[in-house]
Amino acid sequence: MSQITIPLLQQKKRSGEPIVMVTAYDYPGARAAERAGVDMVLVGDSGAQVVLGHSSTVAVTTDEMLVLAGAVRRGTTSAFVVCDVPFGSTELSDEQAVATSVRFVKEAGADSVKLEGGSESRLSRIRAIVAAGIPVVGHIGLTPQTAIALGGLRAQGRTRESAERLVREALGVEAAGAFCLVIEAVPSEITQLLRGVLTIPIIGIGAGEADGQVLVLHDLLGVTEGHTAKFVKQYGTIGDDTVAAISAYTAEVRDGVFPGSEHQYAAGEDAVAAARSALGI
Ligand code: KIV
Repeated sequence: MSQITIPLLQQKKRSGEPIVMVTAYDYPGARAAERAGVDMVLVGDSGAQVVLGHSSTVAVTTDEMLVLAGAVRRGTTSAFVVCDVPFGSTELSDEQAVATSVRFVKEAGADSVKLEGGSESRLSRIRAIVAAGIPVVGHIGLTPQTAIALGGLRAQGRTRESAERLVREALGVEAAGAFCLVIEAVPSEITQLLRGVLTIPIIGIGAGEADGQVLVLHDLLGVTEGHTAKFVKQYGTIGDDTVAAISAYTAEVRDGVFPGSEHQYAAGEDAVAAARSALGI
């Protein structure tokens, strides 16, 4: 597959060819996404939940995200790699936001960073990061890093006030210089309206038809346990398959079936004799 670039993503928006994005948090996940031919891989801060076991995305640190991002970068060759900047790593100032974003590019090899929110201060961060030469993906609608301020993990843009805010933020993020926008958990009608006006690609998650789609890898594989959001479609049963495989291994070890002869090395008579002699038996 040819290298995915920003002009290519923009071209896809213009031609109506859907953009495919999926999250990944490690080397094998990135390899699988690459082999499947996705356009963009997002090292999401959802990794805080799906791989680190936190109850929200807020807890993950920049250093932890950098470890995940480096592994994903090493697993990708042509997909465009976007890294979430975690909560607390951009909030203080534009300077902090630029310094954090530079780390993702220099230390992890990210192609771009993703920033949640469309308030005035967030737009200022986007402008500063773009001015530093780092491509930015915006993220509005349901923004999990500030879900408490939004009243919980709930769909946005369903009331007049919320829809107006969404439009204001979308236009603001584009004007601030983001090259792409993730919109999460908003009514499809609002996405359609924004899609017709914005020139940058809109990647939807729970936002209906958009210029592209993103899903959390562990949700689509069926690894995530318990409740998943309404917008999640499960394409695999890897969680159950993994439990089944480990259960089979556990049973075979306990029953003395594994390892069988085909999984063992053989020594020559000399080696066995030498070992006996060394042991004095
Ligand atoms: O962290 C993440 O996985 C995300 C996607 C849900 C868009 O931000």
